[in-house]
Amino acid sequence: MKQVKMANNLHILILAAGKGTRMNSDTPKVMHTLGGEPMIDHVIKKAKMLKPFKISIMINKSLSGLKKIYPDLQMLLQEPQLGTGHAVQIFQKKNKLKNNKLIVLYGDNPLIDFYDLKNMNEQLAKNDVVIMGFKPKINTGYGIVVEKKGKVSEIVEFKDASAIQKKIKTCNSGIMAFSSKALQLVTQIKNNNAKKEFYLTDIVKLSKKYNHKIKLINAKDAKSALGINDMNELGIAETIMQNQLRNKAMKQGVQMIAPETVFLSKDTTFGKNVKIEPHVVISSKVKIGNDVVIRSFSHIEGAVIKNKVSIGPYARIRPGTVLENNSKIGNFVETKNSKINKNSKINHLSYIGDAMIEEDVNIGAGTITCNYDGVKKSKTLIKKGSFIGSNSSLVAPVTVGKNSIIGAGSVITKNVPDNTLALTRAEQKKIKLNNKKQKK
Ligand code: UD1
Ligand code: MG
Repeated sequence: MKQVKMANNLHILILAAGKGTRMNSDTPKVMHTLGGEPMIDHVIKKAKMLKPFKISIMINKSLSGLKKIYPDLQMLLQEPQLGTGHAVQIFQKKNKLKNNKLIVLYGDNPLIDFYDLKNMNEQLAKNDVVIMGFKPKINTGYGIVVEKKGKVSEIVEFKDASAIQKKIKTCNSGIMAFSSKALQLVTQIKNNNAKKEFYLTDIVKLSKKYNHKIKLINAKDAKSALGINDMNELGIAETIMQNQLRNKAMKQGVQMIAPETVFLSKDTTFGKNVKIEPHVVISSKVKIGNDVVIRSFSHIEGAVIKNKVSIGPYARIRPGTVLENNSKIGNFVETKNSKINKNSKINHLSYIGDAMIEEDVNIGAGTITCNYDGVKKSKTLIKKGSFIGSNSSLVAPVTVGKNSIIGAGSVITKNVPDNTLALTRAEQKKIKLNNKKQKK
């Protein structure tokens, strides 16, 4: 997406301090993820693209962790949370904007379209109040934009609206912009409404009283204006986001047999000639190279996958995994914090954790790196060209030397030198059977 040139007198405020009661969750609303990233991150990214001179975020106590993640943004605390109007009152008291314009974004509007924001910014140059409206299929509680003789007269919150007003199709997306003149009116907002809150939307009615120029623009696509207030809306937004991510990946050349069953993250990156079979989940921080096949029912998170790699079916690739060129991970294999180097294969039923597998290694079916002794984690090193026989346990810390072989069914507790066969299996016994007894 193209960024716009620095709009020097533009300030953006993101409101995120609300309690989020309707989410029924211990996680603060704006920290719930969409495409693997917290909602607030989506909004901040869009805000930054407008190149404002400053971005402020209204937070509550449970969001104080954001200060560390975004040291470049102004964090303002709103305690208690008395409404969106109250939040902007706090902002204005602190910043005292006089010659600046302000765009207010809501932290629970993560799908907002950058082009709509750009449009809003352009309209702000010519108006005092710009409202971004949209027409949802059903009004699930959005503020209603009331127009009289083709001009916006007020925004009425759903709970305060009359039966006739509830029939109006244009709703408030929550995104609004103000000239400094209009912003001064925020101090006049009162809380005489159904929720006993200070509504930012009341500034429209006040602006009308002072004959300010009010402009209603419409979001290009109603989906992008979706506000997230409960888990149902979060689910709907995730579906929209996943469709966007899949479409983007497929446009880049990723082949998906059943795209609707593939789940991606906003930060997933793909090389060329990638094929993803049905029912695959790719969580955050995954980089995928060229000529990679991800077979059905695999789950990948926090991993770097280089070129010509094959994964799955039924593989679990956990954070810290690096799969080098031409490596292969087969069915029912779990890897974590491990590097699998060039041409190495773990084809069946294994757990490889905290391990370095060098080049040309073959890990037999059912091999387990015993990396945890109940207290601490330890490392396993398997050097170049080694062969680990099936159903072996490698008790870490342990090293298997170059071109060595571990006999099937071994429990390896000591280092194995280069070019050595090591096995701990009990010797096979031969016991003659009493055949008469067996015959009946
Ligand atoms: C709000 C709008 C409504 C609009 C809808 C769009 C108001 C009064 N209503 O309703 O017209 O149709 O968004 O999605 O603005 N927040 C604070 N401090 C507070 C209260 C809220 O920072 O004291 C933040 C919340 O964290 C949230 C945003 O403001 O990110 C909106 O608040 P929310 O309670 O979700 O408002 P809605 O009922 O959705
Ligand atoms: Mg909301």
